[in-house]
Order: sequence, then C-alpha cells, then structure tokens
Amino acid sequence: MVRIKINGRWRELDRDKDLAPAMTLSYLLKEVLGLTGIKVSCDEGACGACTVIMDGKAVLSCMMLALQADGHEITTIEGLAKDDPVVEAFAAQSEPGYGTALQCGYCTPGFVMTAKALLAENPVPTLGEVKEALSGNICRCGCYAAIAQAVLRTSEKVRAGGCR
Ligand code: FES
Ligand code: FES
Repeated sequence: MVRIKINGRWRELDRDKDLAPAMTLSYLLKEVLGLTGIKVSCDEGACGACTVIMDGKAVLSCMMLALQADGHEITTIEGLAKDDPVVEAFAAQSEPGYGTALQCGYCTPGFVMTAKALLAENPVPTLGEVKEALSGNICRCGCYAAIAQAVLRTSEKVRAGGCR
C-alpha cells in the first residue's frame, strides 16, 4: 500500500490497482481523487499551475510521480481554510496601479500555494523575494503586479499578528 496524507487525512492507495507506475501526482490528486482545484496547464513543469505543498515546500505536482508522495504530507488549495489570509488577499486585491490579482483564475491556485510556502518560510518577504518565489508561476492574464501586492498584503497581516 501507498500512504499519502492529503489535506490532513491519510489516504491508502493500492500500488497495483490505484496507481499506475507512471501516474503523476497531479493526475492522482485531480483525476483520481477529485481535487479539481489543482490546475494542469503545461503538464511539463513550466507554468506552476499544478503547484501543491509537500511537507511545507511548494512542488510541481505534474513533475512528480504519485508514488514519490508515499509517506509524505500534501496540501492542495482545498486543504486551506475558507478564510485563509492568502486567499482573502487575492480576492480583495483590486486597486489602481496594481489591478486585480485574478482574472480568469486559472493560475490562482498555483500562485496561492506557492505564496503559502513562501510566507511559511519567510513571513516578511521583500517585493524582490516575492517576485523570485513566484517566478515559476505563469499568469496568462498578466496579473503579476497585483499578485505580488496580494502576497505583500498577506505579509502585512503577519506583521500585525493575524496570519496563520
Ligand atoms: S501544469 Fe505543472 S508546471 Fe504547468
Ligand atoms: S488570472 Fe488568468 S491566468 Fe492568471
């Protein structure tokens, strides 16, 4: 059996029945387990849309085999609280000069998970550090300035003591 802790719950998967040897983690999470918040766009490690958190680090789930997650803890966008501060900051971000942090929203789960991992490691990043951390994520709607602003806004909540 393969055991993976997904959004706080251990799941047991039959290595022979549930998992083809070449199945990617993104396929397992999205297509087998129905966690459709994960977006798969390029499917080759170039866009960040499929980002999830594994053991506290942002990883590209399309570039990992499902079997590689055996024994590890995975968090997807579905595993975040409804009032998650990063999600709230993305939803709230809309202002002249920066614009909106999401238009079509296809890239948003990947950006949110990358931002979560960044802020867990570095709660008060500079703008340069935010840009660097998010550099592997592509937004085809071009919301980059507003996305960075949303991450900085979340960081301000950290400084105020209100961020988990
Ligand atoms: S879908 Fe995984 S990096 Fe693009
Ligand atoms: S909001 Fe459309 S791709 Fe980013």
